[in-house]
Amino acid sequence: MKESERIRLREVLRPIRGDLKAFRRQFREVLRSGIFVVDQVAAHLVRSRGKGLRPALTLLSARASGAQGPLPERTLVAALVVEMLHTATLVHDDVVDRADERRGRPTLNLVYNNKVAVLFGDFMLARSLQGMLAQRKLEVLDLFSDCAIRLSRGELVEAISARKLDMDKAGYFQMVGDKTASLISAACQMGPLSLDRGEAFTEPLAKYGELVGVAYQIRDDLLDLGDGSKRIGKPIGLDLGQAKVTLPLLHALEQLGTTQRAHVLRALRRSKKRDKRGKRTDLREVRAMIEEHGGIDYAREIAHEYSGRAREVLEALPRSEYRDRLAQFARFAATRDR
Ligand code: IPE
Ligand code: IPE
Ligand code: MG
Ligand code: MG
Ligand code: MG
Repeated sequence: MKESERIRLREVLRPIRGDLKAFRRQFREVLRSGIFVVDQVAAHLVRSRGKGLRPALTLLSARASGAQGPLPERTLVAALVVEMLHTATLVHDDVVDRADERRGRPTLNLVYNNKVAVLFGDFMLARSLQGMLAQRKLEVLDLFSDCAIRLSRGELVEAISARKLDMDKAGYFQMVGDKTASLISAACQMGPLSLDRGEAFTEPLAKYGELVGVAYQIRDDLLDLGDGSKRIGKPIGLDLGQAKVTLPLLHALEQLGTTQRAHVLRALRRSKKRDKRGKRTDLREVRAMIEEHGGIDYAREIAHEYSGRAREVLEALPRSEYRDRLAQFARFAATRDR
């Protein structure tokens, strides 16, 4: 991609710079528990700040729904809830994926151990529950309980199908919608919901979030294959090594004959066994097979398609600078290199 076409995140977030500052200040506060060890773990997480896209989407969607002047406390709390829920799922995800790096730093499961990571993930989840309740709104609880079910269902389905390697594309889109798009969609809906705006805002933003979320995860699959910058702050090649179902792999497998397919599946299973024993297998051959059979190009194309559909949905919102930034974010989701 040409540099001129590259979407810079800083550009996308420019009009909500002030809102993000307020958000970050509160995020540091909210993680304080008053218990020394818990605060130590939290400090490790705060030091390794992520891109903060989900809370940014809440803030952007609030602005795109007509919020002016300083944002109400409820909108800021909504953004906090979203980032806490996201962080909790990442902390658990790194245990599940046996990942050793996140946001350019060692993961909690590496620095401490799996037990601490699981328990701290639960702590974050409980904290986010408090924030949801503080909204005093049944629709908010409805939205997040549905989202939490989808998040865990997506992660579960992924874990189980990685064992059997038997997923088709329909199953993949369902799984990715659950594990990634559900929270991105909830983040987008929380903007208007926190302002008591009606369905004219929440509905298109819900759809936008679902579509953009799928594009975001497909791009994440590509990043794991090394289709981005070399430094993405988390391990590369983990999905392949653990035989996770990703779109590039699925597509390539579809192109193979029975014998070749069986050969690749065997290589993946072997590598997964080694990975469990803490060893890495060289999967360059499989990586080349994916490329050769158009898996990378195909996944890029589908990510673009989802991103385009997301932009179309935005037309239902009133025209504004914020709506344009959401459209820009959709492009970023499909092309990002970290
Ligand atoms: C990682 O999300 C998990 C996925 C759904 C791909 P991000 O890449 O948005 O994580 P951070 O918050 O920026 O670290
Ligand atoms: C998990 O997807 C996304 C979640 C909802 C936790 P990945 O396992 O691919 O996310 P990364 O690559 O570790 O960030
Ligand atoms: Mg992971
Ligand atoms: Mg995972
Ligand atoms: Mg990933």
